Amino acid sequence: MTSKLSGPVVCPGSFDPVTLGHLDIFHRASKQFEKVVIAVLQNPAKSNLFSVEERIELLVDATADLSNIEVTSFEGLLVDFCKRKNITAIVKGLRAVSDFDYELQMAQLNHQIGGVETFFMSSNPTYSFLSSSMAKEVAKYGGSVDLLVPTNVAAALSRKFS
Ligand code: PNS
Repeated sequence: MTSKLSGPVVCPGSFDPVTLGHLDIFHRASKQFEKVVIAVLQNPAKSNLFSVEERIELLVDATADLSNIEVTSFEGLLVDFCKRKNITAIVKGLRAVSDFDYELQMAQLNHQIGGVETFFMSSNPTYSFLSSSMAKEVAKYGGSVDLLVPTNVAAALSRKFS
């Protein structure tokens, strides 16, 4: 039987900044799919700590050990980005039931308006509490983020809040 999904998949997000939870999903997705495109949303309406360029640089460094990963950014609708890049599927991590409602809604919408499928991966329970916002909050008040984000991000957070 031939493999049906030989093209790239996308892991979209804000990644402000990338956490160890995201990285776990990237590692596992890169084993399952031929190519994984990490796409950082450019959203000027949202105030982010890191610029899109900084977020891309942090992602590139943190995934340097994975050969089938591409990091890029997109603006507008995710399904339009998928169309331009010939991507037929999205991969998302689900941390807890609380993620499910919104993620299901987005998955159904993206399928309805763009015919793009979504694959959910259960997050590693070690990171089920973790979000970029939590990591920023800890760093802001001087706590250690060593168990929350990759080392390059920990250094970048400490520079931002120093
Ligand atoms: O890391 P985030 O902020 O939870 O990621 C959300 C993201 C970027 C995946 C989502 O907001 C998105 O796909 N935005 C692009 C605009 C779009 O396609 N909207 C329709 C689906 S909600």
